[in-house]
Amino acid sequence: MFSNKKKKDSQERSEKSAVDLQRIPKHIAIIMDGNGRWAQQRHLPRVAGHKQGMEVVETITKAASKIGVKVLTLYAFSTENWKRPLDEVNFLMDLPVKFFDRFVPELIKHNVRVNVMGDEEQLPKKTQEAVNNAIEQTKDCDGMILNFALNYGSRTEIIAAVKNIATDVKNDKVTTEQIDEDLFAKYLLTGQLTPYNDPDLLIRTSGEQRISNFLLWQIAYSELEFTDTYWPDYLPENLYHDIVVFQQRDRRFGGIKTQKGENESK
Ligand code: IPE
Ligand code: IPE
Ligand code: MG
Repeated sequence: MFSNKKKKDSQERSEKSAVDLQRIPKHIAIIMDGNGRWAQQRHLPRVAGHKQGMEVVETITKAASKIGVKVLTLYAFSTENWKRPLDEVNFLMDLPVKFFDRFVPELIKHNVRVNVMGDEEQLPKKTQEAVNNAIEQTKDCDGMILNFALNYGSRTEIIAAVKNIATDVKNDKVTTEQIDEDLFAKYLLTGQLTPYNDPDLLIRTSGEQRISNFLLWQIAYSELEFTDTYWPDYLPENLYHDIVVFQQRDRRFGGIKTQKGENESK
C-alpha cells in the first residue's frame, strides 16, 4: 500500500517525466485564484487561503526554476482588488513583507531574480520597502525572473504606455512613424522582460475562465489553460501537467499546422 506522501511523490515524478525539457514554455504567467474559496471550504477565514497561497508561491517558483522556465509572472494583486474589505487588503499588503523576509535567501540560492510590476506608489510604505529590498538583494541572480504583478491592471498599463509615447513624441524623442508593435511593447511594464515579454502559457486556477485585466496586450498568442484546482492546492505536479498540455498544443500564430515546436516563439 502506498502512503499518501509516497503516492504524491510518484505522481509528481510521473508528471515530471512526461515533460519535454527541450520545449519548456519560456514565460509562464499564472492568475493565482481561489484562495478565498479554499479557505471557506475548510471553514477558515479567507486570509488563511492567502497564507497557504504564499507557501505555494515558494514551491511553484522552485519547481519552475528547476525545470528551466525563464520568467514566471504571478498575479498577486490587481488594481481592482482594493474593492475588498480593508482587513483582507491589509493582510494582502503584508504578505510580500512576510514572503520576502522568509524566502529571499532561498530565491538567491536558486539564482532567482525578483521583479515587480504595477503601481508601486499606492502600496503601503512597508510593502514598497519589502519589494525594493527583494529586488535589490536578488539583482545579481541571472536565473529565472520571478515577476510579481502587484497592484497591476492591464488597462492602466496600456494607458500609461500611450501617455509616455505621446510625451516622447511631443519631445521629439519618437516620431509617429516609429510607433509599431515592438516600440509599444517596450513601453509596457513587461518591456523589462525582453526577450520574454509575452507569456507562452497563461494558467488560471480555481475554475474561473476570465482574464481579469491581466496582460491584455501580451497574451495575444499565449496558450490559455484553466484548471479547477484552487491556488493553495496547486502542486508542482499540476504545473508539470499544465506544461505537458501546453506541449501537446499546436501553436500556429496564424500560420498553418507545422512540425511540432517549429512555430514556437523565440
Ligand atoms: C486569489 O484568490 C488571490 C487574490 C486575488 C489576491 P481570491 O482571494 O480571489 O480567492 P477567491 O476567488 O475569492 O476564491
Ligand atoms: C484576479 O483574481 C486577480 C488576482 C489573482 C490577483 P480576482 O479574484 O480578483 O478576479 P475576479 O474578481 O474573480 O475577476
Ligand atoms: Mg478570486
